[in-house]
Amino acid sequence: MKIKIAPSLLSADFSQLGLEVRKTERAGADLIHWDIMDGHFVPNITFGPVVVEKLRKKTKLPFDVHLMIENPDDFLEDFVRAGADMISVHAEACLHLQRTVHHVKDLGAKVGVALNPATPLNAVEFVLGDLDFILIMTVNPGFGGQKFIPSVIPKIRKAKEMIQAQGSKAEIEVDGGLNEENIPLVVAAGANILVAGYSVYCRGGIAKNIKLLRKSAERGMKLGMAQKPGFENFKKEMR
Ligand code: DX5
Ligand code: ZN
Repeated sequence: MKIKIAPSLLSADFSQLGLEVRKTERAGADLIHWDIMDGHFVPNITFGPVVVEKLRKKTKLPFDVHLMIENPDDFLEDFVRAGADMISVHAEACLHLQRTVHHVKDLGAKVGVALNPATPLNAVEFVLGDLDFILIMTVNPGFGGQKFIPSVIPKIRKAKEMIQAQGSKAEIEVDGGLNEENIPLVVAAGANILVAGYSVYCRGGIAKNIKLLRKSAERGMKLGMAQKPGFENFKKEMR
């Protein structure tokens, strides 16, 4: 699977988002990750469809829209019209998840289901065949710059096993607290879409940071090939 780096604009400079998006594209990112928050599903408020629409013409990169909102069905059309290429909805926010997944597909966007750290994988077991990706949270949603939760790594591995067992085409996106230390672990466990906000936008040059993250992902690919994923082994390996 191709590694895709998806910088999260939540940590970008909001006073010049157009420039930040341009710089992110030039720096070699694969996707732009939009963290949409409504102050209800998570205790924070960020962007709406109008902002996404304004930035659409600034870049050719696909927009990966992460809906951390209640009643996502009410906004799917707005985000697709605004230019979303991929939309993830939280399983925890959907009363009728299968219907919402098909609503996204009918609108022509790629569809993912996001799972908070404590939410079990079986929340997606019976829709996995319909998904383009699963978004596995490695922080509790709502803020950038939080600490990675390592106990989620076995969940990534189990997701990969479940995808392979079902013959699903779904990719695994991981989101929250990612950096060059933990990316090899999540890639070796089966993730290929890597969301990063703080480690891209809050530590000097965007291009340098994306290159660093991509290099660490390549290490993870080798780790994943070299040995059957067993978290203990990787912890030793990563010391
Ligand atoms: C958290 C968001 C994440 C977060 C990632 O609710 O979904 O996308 O912004 O940013 P970092 O890499 O700073 O944790
Ligand atoms: Zn996100």
